Amino acid sequence: MRLGGALSIGDIERLAKRRLPRVVYEGISSGVEDERGLIRNEAEFHRYRLVPRAFADVTKRDQTASLFGRTYASPFGISPTGIAGIFRRDAELMLARAASEASVPFVMSGASMVSIERVARIDPANTWFQLYAARDPKISDDFLRRARDAGFSTLVLTVDNPVPPKRERDARNGFRLPPKLAPRDMLEALLHLPWVIDYLRGGGMPVMETWAPYATPGASAAEVARFFRTQSPSIQTWRDLDGFRRAWPGKLVVKGIMRPADAVRCAEHGVDGIVISNHGGKALDRAPASIEVLPSIKAAIGDRLAVMLDSGVRRGSDIVVAHCLGADFVFVGRATLYGVAAAGLAGASRVLTILREEIDTTLGLIGCPRFDELGPDFILNEPGEPATVESAGPRPIAKAG
Ligand SMILES: Cc1cc2nc3c(=O)[nH]c(=O)nc-3n(C[C@H](O)[C@H](O)[C@H](O)COP(=O)(O)O)c2cc1C
Repeated sequence: MRLGGALSIGDIERLAKRRLPRVVYEGISSGVEDERGLIRNEAEFHRYRLVPRAFADVTKRDQTASLFGRTYASPFGISPTGIAGIFRRDAELMLARAASEASVPFVMSGASMVSIERVARIDPANTWFQLYAARDPKISDDFLRRARDAGFSTLVLTVDNPVPPKRERDARNGFRLPPKLAPRDMLEALLHLPWVIDYLRGGGMPVMETWAPYATPGASAAEVARFFRTQSPSIQTWRDLDGFRRAWPGKLVVKGIMRPADAVRCAEHGVDGIVISNHGGKALDRAPASIEVLPSIKAAIGDRLAVMLDSGVRRGSDIVVAHCLGADFVFVGRATLYGVAAAGLAGASRVLTILREEIDTTLGLIGCPRFDELGPDFILNEPGEPATVESAGPRPIAKAG
């Protein structure tokens, strides 16, 4: 299969799997502990059906969506994915460009290989900066200054990783920062020469450029990565959040919220938006799926802040379901990472196109010409619970247990 023949995110994942040595591919696909959270994220989306409305005029379909005063071509964006440069050199730049061309937001990871300043050359107004707060607050302050100087509009503070998660598959594979190929991986490497050549041509492990200025001058890529590990993860409190709110003049988003009470508290602390997220199943294996907790969070918070969601999104119809249940915007992590790993900019763009087309088809098939007209009346819960009466029905609906 070639990129042009890839019809789904699953196809794109298969292409990425083919190009990457197993250990590297599993660095993306893996979860934590028994990886039940990973399975749950997708399975929970599958519990919802969309109930078509008959005789709707769906000749023209509109999936544009507004967020923080900007209108995007589609109601989804790219989640921050650190160390993307390992999967393909300069992947972060390709993701930023793909997002800019598709007019959807790109969240640059604070654990990127490419620097804030290099990413900012692509489309700063379209780029958000995700912060892993450093243990040394002076470093975090400097990240904020650089992100502001770069012209990034939005700061995303990730809070779902206060201590290192137990990534057993990565540990068994020896996949860590800095990564090391063990002798047993050599055959794998030989079978995946295009990736190996790309990796070696760039000098092996890329430097985490965003962190390099704070490590010892002249530090190698491995030393910068080790320095990063001494600074992150760091434990954050509500008081730290207040500090970031005071220091950051733009929109502030907290990523990794899972409880209604925390969402309400975020609003009270001046946060502009939350991302309901379990880090794509890469943090707490027993965390609920984001889509499971979305209705109760939306019920508690209403429109007081933007409610966004990621974790487990693989289809345009997942994005439609999330919107019906109250999400203002949705993000994907692995999907675009598989795209860029498989085929660079073209691969990332293909993923965005697939999701966009799937949303368009779904809107047509369910008889809803406008994305912003979606609501809980389109949803049928498993198993066989009657659909909510068609009306402007209150969001959210209760979900069958
Ligand atoms: C390889 C990888 C790296 C990630 N790095 C980060 C990161 O640097 N910062 C962050 O906030 N989340 C990170 N995440 C989590 C994503 O932002 C996102 O929450 C998750 O991938 C969404 O789930 P999905 O992959 O099922 O779409 C990472 C996820 C993956 C798979």
